Amino acid sequence: MRLRPGYLDRPAQEALVAAVSDLIAQAPLFTPRMPKSGQPFSVRMTNCGPLGWVSDQTGYRYQTHHPVTGTPWPPMPAILLAAWADLAGYPHPPEACLVNVYAPDARMGLHQDRDESDFAAPVVSLSLGQTCRFRVGGTARRDPTRSFRLASGDALVLGGDARLAFHGVDRIICGTSTLLPDGGRINLTLRRVNRPA
Ligand code: SIN
Ligand code: FE2
Repeated sequence: MRLRPGYLDRPAQEALVAAVSDLIAQAPLFTPRMPKSGQPFSVRMTNCGPLGWVSDQTGYRYQTHHPVTGTPWPPMPAILLAAWADLAGYPHPPEACLVNVYAPDARMGLHQDRDESDFAAPVVSLSLGQTCRFRVGGTARRDPTRSFRLASGDALVLGGDARLAFHGVDRIICGTSTLLPDGGRINLTLRRVNRPA
């Protein structure tokens, strides 16, 4: 696991917020639901790139189309492709970028990112807006965890032994950033889904 505090400076964060607004205009935020129970997530999501991650009562999966509008996900903005090329240490482009939008009271339970068929590539995460308390453990749910803050502009790379580490967001810490006019937090995770041919 590699943390790069302040990876994106303020102008780069503003450019990324503008890119995310464009994405949301094309691929509106949707509320994912837990498999089986259908319980809604507190986080709203969208995606860009050839594939997008979705979750509903039938399960978690990647798909090429938006679950509500049925249109293909918008292309990945150049700024995200550049961050992947710089941070991932992986010679193929990412296939999916999941955009998580956290209202001030949203959180994300401890989970592993394991819906990809290739774990050789890392997951590259970029945070915007309010700081959160991020929690990370080991590769088993019962492993001890620790927490730290992820602030606006920070990059986190989950690769190697940490690729399948349990992780989640305990809470958003209000009043920590002026980046987003509505408060809250945006997290973008870039992933490789399929093994390159
Ligand atoms: C995620 O694990 O999908 C999101 C992590 C984060 O919001 O920092
Ligand atoms: Fe995750």
